[in-house]
Amino acid sequence: MSKLAGREDMTVIAFDVNHLAEEYDQKKPSEIIKLALDSFENLAISFSGADDVVLVDMAVRINPDVNVFSLDTGRLHTETYRLLEQVREHYNIQIEVLFPDTAAVQELVKEKGLYSFYKDGHKECCGIRKVGPLRRKLATLDAWITGQRKDQSPDTRAAVPVIEIDGTFSTSDNRLIKFNPLSNWTSNQIWQYIRKNDVPFNELHKRGFISIGCEPCTRPVLPNQHEREGRWWWEEATTKECGLHPGNLDKKSV
Ligand code: ADX
Ligand code: SF4
Repeated sequence: MSKLAGREDMTVIAFDVNHLAEEYDQKKPSEIIKLALDSFENLAISFSGADDVVLVDMAVRINPDVNVFSLDTGRLHTETYRLLEQVREHYNIQIEVLFPDTAAVQELVKEKGLYSFYKDGHKECCGIRKVGPLRRKLATLDAWITGQRKDQSPDTRAAVPVIEIDGTFSTSDNRLIKFNPLSNWTSNQIWQYIRKNDVPFNELHKRGFISIGCEPCTRPVLPNQHEREGRWWWEEATTKECGLHPGNLDKKSV
């Protein structure tokens, strides 16, 4: 329930998403995170173990007990696991690590092997390893915070608002609010922040990786290659959303 609302049925009225999205569009990420934390008790940061670590750094300064979760697909890089642990210790926070449904993973691997995504696309594997656990987690929340940015993908993220109603994971009983506080920041701003504030970061960034997802589906990029070219490189740029943020595919055609 929104903290702004005194009663549960007031939530929708109290948190005016469109108005606040406009008002906060040009505000600093930390101000957007503060709004999120002040407005919703039942909220969590979705942390991928990449440069979205800045969300954690900013949020902990506002609320040292902020909820953070990560989706462990079982296919992350060792360096990403190490960062999750480093972040947990550095900020003295808990990180809820979510795992996919065992039976579903076993069935997929038995039927199609461990690398089916190279043959028939990433959607099925991402659906099982990422989207399923995320859906289960989001069903327990009123709001979530992501590290999505417009500059991560001109093809799919150019219209990401700083605050939105989550059109994918809201249900008839639960209007889920999605905060994207970094939306208007550039990669350059992220890295200036990381350096200035001594934020722990994924060692893969030292080896040419910019965008980081699962190990088999992520590779470093060459100078001047866009970061998204390091993800699912065998697929079309316009379909490179794994199901965590599929609403972006609708927005770009608007
Ligand atoms: S993805 O959809 O292509 O995989 P991306 O790697 O750009 O997403 O990350 C964008 C944001 O989605 C992250 O900042 C984070 O909020 C969320 N996210 C992506 N992967 C994970 C993950 N494994 N665990 C938790 N959150 C994630
Ligand atoms: Fe599977 Fe690749 Fe998606 Fe990870 S990114 S869940 S390995 S298809």
